[in-house]
Amino acid sequence: MTSTTNEAQRRGAFSSRKVFIFAAIGSAVGLGNIWRFPYVAYENGGGAFLIPYLVALLTAGLPFLFLDYALGHRYRGSAPLTFARLRRKTEALGWWQVAICFLIAIYYAAVIAWALRYTFFSVNEAWGDDPEGFLFGDFLQAGDPGVTLDVVVGVLVPLALVWVVVLLIMALGVQKGIGLLSLWFIPVLFIAFGALVIRALTLDGASIGLDALFSPSWDALAEPGVWAAAFGQIFFSLSIGFGIMITYASYVDRHNDMPGAGFVVGFANSGFELLAGIGVFAALGFMAQASGVAVEDVAADGLGLAFVVFPALISEAPAGALIGVLFFGSLVIAGLTSLVSVIEVVISAVRDKFEMTRVGASMAVGVPAALLSLVLFSTTSGVYVLDIIDHFINQYGILVVAVVSMVVVAWGLRELPSLAAHLNRFGSLPLGRPWYALVGFVAPVALTYVLIDALVADIKEPYEGYPAWMLNVLGWGSAVAVVVFAVAAAQVRWRPETSLDAESDTLKKEIQ
Ligand code: ALA
Repeated sequence: MTSTTNEAQRRGAFSSRKVFIFAAIGSAVGLGNIWRFPYVAYENGGGAFLIPYLVALLTAGLPFLFLDYALGHRYRGSAPLTFARLRRKTEALGWWQVAICFLIAIYYAAVIAWALRYTFFSVNEAWGDDPEGFLFGDFLQAGDPGVTLDVVVGVLVPLALVWVVVLLIMALGVQKGIGLLSLWFIPVLFIAFGALVIRALTLDGASIGLDALFSPSWDALAEPGVWAAAFGQIFFSLSIGFGIMITYASYVDRHNDMPGAGFVVGFANSGFELLAGIGVFAALGFMAQASGVAVEDVAADGLGLAFVVFPALISEAPAGALIGVLFFGSLVIAGLTSLVSVIEVVISAVRDKFEMTRVGASMAVGVPAALLSLVLFSTTSGVYVLDIIDHFINQYGILVVAVVSMVVVAWGLRELPSLAAHLNRFGSLPLGRPWYALVGFVAPVALTYVLIDALVADIKEPYEGYPAWMLNVLGWGSAVAVVVFAVAAAQVRWRPETSLDAESDTLKKEIQ
């Protein structure tokens, strides 16, 4: 038996390229595709947004995805182990991503729990004739912005259930847990969501919604904020920059065409996103026609779109309960297959660092994550805490670590040629100078611009008008805490049996 096989047995591995591709699509297609993309596209030039979106996908999204693949596949470790093997002093970059994933996982689970409740609420339209009042009042019981410990049982129970399911999947491991979940549920998701889109397209007024979404507002292309939105959307949606693809690539057999897989994942993710845009706006067109107002008056962002506008639509449309079950059921499935990838980043890091068993590491990470998630998000202040952490950790976590890692790998270590050589051994798309230019220059410059734009906006106006102390503690505090954690975690010694020397004979056999 070769050392690679031993290593694969010890760390876990996907049994085939197909399983890896399904798992990667499962990770990419998530809450970001279904309720974020349609609104972001609509707000930022409608049809014209597709241009910056495609530019962002081709110039930053796919090139960065290949970088993540190259790192994980070559160094065959969790994010911290991969970076430690790349160079001992870059390990903190991996822990930075781990900390970001921990925070994302604890609130992402809460949104899945809400969607789970709403799948059942859809059956009897529990929101009556006031979906907004129902969401913030009866369901979330949200008071004024602040932090409380008043528990909302209606959120606590589904959230606990989500965590139990996730922990079971994680304990089952890479193939039997994540791999099989994706193999079974990604087809279900595509069928359910496909059915929803067909239903939405056959509603009266669907074409009004599609006109609103796709009428290009070309002037938008001259606005920097529109380009910023496109780059931000691509990173969150493709699951890049937070260690997920490094971790997943480390579970893939060495003899694999990784860039080819990346194309499949990238285009499947964007295809799903477009489908979501079409389905959601066809439904909004129906709402607009039924209530005699313009589409812009029924469109709402994020939470509002999924949990206020959709319930209103479900009450209004023929066979609304079916639409509701398909929509919220799709959110639950898409969310779960993404959540397992986010928490896997943390589990695999803990497992690598402390040489723990799969079940041990799943519990060591999952139980505290679940408890924190329950404490923070099943209270009457959960929705505000969630909104703030989500905003700050996406901008000043994911995008910052992405820029720093590109600059470090491309300019600090000058490792792009060796990483390209690694992918080119079995890759169907030869990576060379154009890739170096995109990863080393175009993507970091574009993202830095996006970040400055976001920073200026956040400094000029407190995000969503929240009290300054909440933004400082939960928002900026989270962005700083993940860096402090990363630096501290990188000081913890590796176990003697963990090989960090990429030049060692054992590791060379594995990573070549
Ligand atoms: N990529 C995942 C999403 O879009 C995290 O929600």
